[in-house]
Amino acid sequence: MRTQTILVMSAMCLGLASCNQAEAPVEPADAASGASLTALPVSTNAVMVGLVDNSADYLWAIGNGDMPQDEKDWDLVRSATYDMILGGQVMKVPGTGEFDQQWTAEANWQEMSDQLTEIGQDALPLAEAQSTDEEAWRAIGDRLVQNCLACHEAFKPEIPSEGILHRSTERESRGISIFE
Ligand code: HEC
Repeated sequence: MRTQTILVMSAMCLGLASCNQAEAPVEPADAASGASLTALPVSTNAVMVGLVDNSADYLWAIGNGDMPQDEKDWDLVRSATYDMILGGQVMKVPGTGEFDQQWTAEANWQEMSDQLTEIGQDALPLAEAQSTDEEAWRAIGDRLVQNCLACHEAFKPEIPSEGILHRSTERESRGISIFE
């Protein structure tokens, strides 16, 4: 009697397992979509300063005629385009900053973050081809600066700068190549 019950239960379990497999196949796209990322361990400000701002300098440089000189420089440029692609998506998720929840809940925040990702995606083929087409890079740079300004105007007009100045920004402002 006991053995019979166990056998029946096992048969049911096996049946269910195969049923589930047929009805709900695992979608690899779902697993990779990052849909479960709901909070960042750092603030939006840290994402800005650490990821977006520093790397944006490398994309602006080429449009301003500051050309990468070797493979190492192009590597920096290519990484910077990935930082824009990823940075835009990371910014859609609230972090530890005081206003992060409120900002990321806004539709235009989400849109402008996606735009940052798109600009990075459009820059990637140029970076991969090691393009020295200054016009094409300037067009990317113009879109990029509009994106930064539009979002800052909407969300951080009166928040004072923490005064963080990256070495690359400082060099650029003094007319020295950011590629060393
Ligand atoms: C989707 C909105 C958004 C976009 C796009 C955006 N930013 Fe920001 N950024 C912010 C907000 C909001 C803050 C202020 C965060 C805070 O103080 O908590 C900020 C802060 C910063 C800071 C820190 C300023 C300080 O006070 O220390 C820098 C630097 C910065 N952004 C650079 C950029 C650059 C460069 C770009 C474009 C390549 C850019 N940001 C694009 C929203 C955005």
